[in-house]
Amino acid sequence: MRVTDLSPHQRIDASELFLQADRLEPCVLVIFGAAGDLTRRKLIPALYNMVREEALDERFAVIGYSRSPQSDDQYRDLLLDGLGNYSRAQPIDEKLWQGFSQRISYVEGNFEDPEGYAALRNGLEAVERLIGSDGNRLFYLATPPSAAPIILHRLSEAGLLQAGGADSPWTRIILEKPYGRDLESASDLNRIVAEVLQEDQVYRIDHYLGKETVQNILVARLGNTIFEPLWNRKYIDHVQITAAESIGVEGRGRFYDRTGVVRDMVQSHLLQVLSLCAMEPPVSFAADDIRDKRVEVLRSLRQFTAEEVFKNVVFGQYRGYRDEENVDRESRTPTYAAIMCFIDNWRWQGVPFFLRVGKHLSQRLTEISVVFRPVPLCLFGRDDVCQDLEPNVLTIRIQPDAGMALKISSKRPGGEMEVASVEMDFSYSETYAHPIRDAYERLLLDAVKGDATLFARRDEVEFAWRFVTPILSSWEGAIKRQPVFYAEGSEGPVEAENLMHGQGRQWREIC
Ligand SMILES: NC(=O)c1ccc[n+]([C@@H]2O[C@H](COP(=O)([O-])OP(=O)(O)OC[C@H]3O[C@@H](n4cnc5c(N)ncnc54)[C@H](OP(=O)(O)O)[C@@H]3O)[C@@H](O)[C@H]2O)c1
Repeated sequence: MRVTDLSPHQRIDASELFLQADRLEPCVLVIFGAAGDLTRRKLIPALYNMVREEALDERFAVIGYSRSPQSDDQYRDLLLDGLGNYSRAQPIDEKLWQGFSQRISYVEGNFEDPEGYAALRNGLEAVERLIGSDGNRLFYLATPPSAAPIILHRLSEAGLLQAGGADSPWTRIILEKPYGRDLESASDLNRIVAEVLQEDQVYRIDHYLGKETVQNILVARLGNTIFEPLWNRKYIDHVQITAAESIGVEGRGRFYDRTGVVRDMVQSHLLQVLSLCAMEPPVSFAADDIRDKRVEVLRSLRQFTAEEVFKNVVFGQYRGYRDEENVDRESRTPTYAAIMCFIDNWRWQGVPFFLRVGKHLSQRLTEISVVFRPVPLCLFGRDDVCQDLEPNVLTIRIQPDAGMALKISSKRPGGEMEVASVEMDFSYSETYAHPIRDAYERLLLDAVKGDATLFARRDEVEFAWRFVTPILSSWEGAIKRQPVFYAEGSEGPVEAENLMHGQGRQWREIC
């Protein structure tokens, strides 16, 4: 069944909702690391698309802060170049860009240098007077994580971090991942953040949570009567979460070799997806009600002892990784991980969650597959028919082909009793007229609106690190162990297959 034949009033044009629901308060967005890749690739394209869809208040302006010397016009040209490459809407509407770019300015400064912050303060106040933005300020730290403490201190010293209140202007900060390198460093960063900001001013971004299809996990679970009663150990055999990339480190060897797949993907994106899959229904959709439930899942994740790490985790590396630019020729950094984990709570006791993530795999694919238990008894008589009876699988596809599919058994047409698996499939692109909004558009909108639902709270980050840190310590401590190697374009190392087979299960094909 394809859900394409909705009547016109059922077909939702997301841009209409966007216009009605998301008009923003005035504010100035200050981007630290304003000449960097993230700004050019994600942030400015997101803002441009928000301007296209008339979602930004006219009293909205951007100030870029970075150390390279350049004029406002040179900075705008740099951003326009990124827009041409990365905006989801092409070609770039020159008139629109001209209008928007006049609201973008540049301040040159070092993260460490107090003079830079004095210049920023002057620039900020001038822009605020010009556009009348009511003093609302959003600081985006699109910077290496090590830069966050000094930037926060300098902002605080410069008097730029006002707590705000119901009737006074607000100040918020968006912090990029990776949020620390382990539990200790993440806790230290949280402590530094708490010295200068209240928790409700802090927006720790994990762009996976901004993806429409990740949010659909909760709608699928909580907006349908048919799934929630089955969503537990009684009916679910196991859950697979896959995040496969078809590309390698793509020029980011220096960053990646220090980071690896566990820090880059598991601690943040995969555990966020896992917590949405496994959380209890919240009391309401208010930010902290949802975040409380996500945190409960992370708290319940069974921590591995040192010996358990190597039984439950496969560390892989693609064959050509050590030949990549800026990668150590003897690097042990994993580019692939397969993990079997358990959630020790009432709902999920004994149900394995398998996480699989890697670079240079056969396809780019992120999905969750909930594999149900087999029927208790096969009543179709013949053994060969019963063998064809496959378990139901609900697959939530996050990217690239966003949607959902439910695998069910059906009778093959004909006189014989023969069983076959068929799929009911829903595809976002076929059902909705409007293209899916980029995660950064949604998250920037939410930060300006003051909705922290899709951002990680302090305790959430720390509980995620609590699960991941023993994995990292065991791996990094076992210096004689080598990662298992896999061929580029494959489905990953055979050891990951064995992890599944050892449990009498198998991975879904990455296709
Ligand atoms: N790139 C992505 O797609 C992406 C995706 C998700 C998360 N992230 C995260 O976002 C953060 C930024 O990543 P990125 O790729 O944009 O990094 P990047 O390309 O290296 O950019 C870093 C920026 O910071 C500036 N900078 C560095 N040190 C500075 C200093 N001491 N004083 C002033 N400016 C300084 C650089 O300024 P100059 O250019 O003027 O030297 C540059 O604008 C990282 O934490 C990364 O993990 C990135």
